[in-house]
Amino acid sequence: MHYPYQIKSLSDYKIQYKKSVEEPEQFWAEVATNFTWKKHWDKVLTWDFKTPNIKWFEGAKLNITENCLDRHLITQPDVPAIIWESNDPEEHHRILTYKELHFKVCQFAHVLKNNGVKKGDRVCIYMGMIPELSIALLACARIGAIHSVVFGGFSAQAIADRLQDANAEFVITCDGAYRGAKEIPLKSVIDDALIGCKFVKRVIVCTRTRTPVSMIKGRDVWWEDEIKKVETQGNHDFPAVEMDAEDQLFILYTSGSTGKPKGVVHTCAGYMVWANYTFVNVFQYQQGQIHFCTADIGWITGHSYILYGPLSAGATSLMFEGVPTWPDAGRFWEIIEKYKVDILYTAPTAIRSLMGFGEGYIAGKDLSSIKVLGTVGEPINEEAWHWYDRNIGKEKAPIVDTWWQTETGGILISNLAGVTPAKPSYATLPLPGVQPVLVDENGKEILGNGVSGNLCMKAPWPGILRTTYGDHERCRINYFATYENLYFTGDGCLRDEDGNYRITGRVDDVLNVSGHRIGTAEIENAINMHQGIVESAVVGFPHDIKGQGIYAYVIYQGTHGDAELARKDINLTVSRMIGAIAKPDKIQFVTGLPKTRSGKIMRRILRKIAENEIGSLGDTSTLLDPAVVDEIIKGKL
Ligand code: WT7
Repeated sequence: MHYPYQIKSLSDYKIQYKKSVEEPEQFWAEVATNFTWKKHWDKVLTWDFKTPNIKWFEGAKLNITENCLDRHLITQPDVPAIIWESNDPEEHHRILTYKELHFKVCQFAHVLKNNGVKKGDRVCIYMGMIPELSIALLACARIGAIHSVVFGGFSAQAIADRLQDANAEFVITCDGAYRGAKEIPLKSVIDDALIGCKFVKRVIVCTRTRTPVSMIKGRDVWWEDEIKKVETQGNHDFPAVEMDAEDQLFILYTSGSTGKPKGVVHTCAGYMVWANYTFVNVFQYQQGQIHFCTADIGWITGHSYILYGPLSAGATSLMFEGVPTWPDAGRFWEIIEKYKVDILYTAPTAIRSLMGFGEGYIAGKDLSSIKVLGTVGEPINEEAWHWYDRNIGKEKAPIVDTWWQTETGGILISNLAGVTPAKPSYATLPLPGVQPVLVDENGKEILGNGVSGNLCMKAPWPGILRTTYGDHERCRINYFATYENLYFTGDGCLRDEDGNYRITGRVDDVLNVSGHRIGTAEIENAINMHQGIVESAVVGFPHDIKGQGIYAYVIYQGTHGDAELARKDINLTVSRMIGAIAKPDKIQFVTGLPKTRSGKIMRRILRKIAENEIGSLGDTSTLLDPAVVDEIIKGKL
């Protein structure tokens, strides 16, 4: 494939950027002509951040899978679309060429249809990282069903919450999943989730671990049996269902500062153009290269940079089932050597964890195929940046530090590999179409360079979220109401003298643990479910590997067992309510929490204590009971 919209130099970037701001409709119309449409748009962009109402390519008809599959059938049917590497280094890898992937997606689209799935239905996908997961997403997109992938680390309760919120009547899962040394009983978790979700009509179960599963008559069917039925019916092709540009493509739940995760909604055309455009430009993808994004498809990074971005660009995407440290900390480097990976896209937390294992695992591995390195998910510290640069890129591969969010659909701020300059720990410059502004507490724009503030966007780019599922007002309040006529990211940010952006972290009550977003209110709600808990307050603290750790201050009046057992019990409740990823790293038992006279918890003080900055607690004059603070400092973990 050729990418006429691939930016080739710094001066080209400047020209493209300027054009994207001055004539956005013309700019995106030109980019969009490089895609397959069933019908062209009537209007490129309509928007209003007040409501919000955002429409890209209105009137256009398309199916994203025609762009990810069908159009490559003619030009490159035998190019690998997905290379799959097992959790087990001894198990044979799998390769699906564009032709094979197209065939399998069509087959599974028939399975979905045979099982009653229709355009617009919500399908919850809870699977491990096997090729069938990619097939499931694409088959949903092919028939116009809205997929809602739930990461395999979430609990039954978390799945049930998401099923209910989306009113999803269909579930696709596996018997189990492998992750490092662990085996996760996915179907069994789904069974627990479905006890309270009687509206789920059908569960399709794909075999992976062959762990025993309970199959409920009339509700549960095996993936493999359903495929056999399609084979005997002799159905091969499945024409892609015609979708409106603004029809919903998928829902992905993400945490915010309130207790309940929200279903971020992306729509067909804008998301497709954005995932593709950012993939091609940020990584400077060249035909034939192997792109290895280590994320799980359960997160937005996997949606956009394992599947939709690379496949729509006709790229070869490497999908990895395992974890970076199993069987040992050389796993990534082995995979790079084995497949001659060109682009590695991973998270700072993985880099920091591998750093800790030393360079011994890299020695002797041929990493000379690496052309571009990427990071995503959280700020990357300079030490990790330089380690990545020296040991993996051998100081020859540009590093792209890509800042974006579930809500943005794709990368918004990043250098373009080898095209625009990198600066360690800076995401650097906005992509064409992205107009960042920094504002102060009152929403006043902070102009000039060498300044910092809250990061907002002034205008929509094609991949911006359109709504939060089932609750448009929530979308408005969360993102568009804090500052008038701006999209608010929730991040703090500084702009250096040259106009480079450095994201400094969340300014709301949201934590970023190992690149995964978790709301403190969500964790508190889970802790408060535990017997004997009177009240709790959760804050983040700096963690060498995870970036942020979870620190919980808890007033506990339980009588069962000692403090250590109580901590384990509380952790189990959090695992049940949300999942193991939300378990506090530290639980401190306290007799009171610092509050203002009006009863508000002073989190700022708790944060300072957790961060070990006891000398700078700030103004404590509004505290109701200062003695509480002394006690908390004394008991700090
Ligand atoms: C939050 C979004 C985007 C996919 C993965 C996470 C933080 C993300 C960076 C970066 C500094 C970053 C922000 C953002 N973040 N990338 N390169 N530098 N911070 O998606 O779960 O929606 O979280 O992750 O705080 O708001 P997410």
